[in-house]
Amino acid sequence: MLKIVVFASGSGSNAERIATYFAEKGTAQVQAILSNNPQAGVLARAKRLAIPSIVFDRQAFYHSDIVLNLIKSLQPDLIVLAGFLWKVPAYLTEAYPDKIINIHPSLLPKYGGKGMYGAHVHQAVIDHGEKESGITIHYVNEHYDEGNIIFQAKTEVLPTDTPDTLAEKIHQLEYQYFPEVISRFVD
Ligand code: GAR
Repeated sequence: MLKIVVFASGSGSNAERIATYFAEKGTAQVQAILSNNPQAGVLARAKRLAIPSIVFDRQAFYHSDIVLNLIKSLQPDLIVLAGFLWKVPAYLTEAYPDKIINIHPSLLPKYGGKGMYGAHVHQAVIDHGEKESGITIHYVNEHYDEGNIIFQAKTEVLPTDTPDTLAEKIHQLEYQYFPEVISRFVD
């Protein structure tokens, strides 16, 4: 059984989708959900799903080995960033090379980098008159949104789209493909 640790900063709908998908399938297990945000919706989801959750602050994440030791004790096969908004420090990418993956709500390399998350991404895509957008699942290295791409899926951007309607389409792609792409790591 593949052991997964999930990092999330917000609502956590992807985290929940991944956890329920694998609970049904029985091929992987979300061991814990880690968050930098004590207000994150993902924490209530974790509680409902009976998945342990841990909140850490900047000091613990960037200037201590608390998070690294915690992850080491869990011995995950894969670390999944599902709407996690802080930069991953080098001590983690070095300890888990090719074992940390992220989902980004655009067709990278377009609309990635610092400050590009959630609605900011969709607003920028619309402002630039893009005809299509999508999702990118990629390995995480020490640079924001620059690791090798594992998977992309596209959706049309209509002239009538708003950041909200585009976010909804992107979320549907994420729910459809993210668990499936994670499944590839099971073997
Ligand atoms: C997702 O759309 C994810 O792609 C995006 O945040 C959303 C989280 O939604 N991630 C980023 O923008 C990372 N730069 P969720 O909390 O409902 O899963």
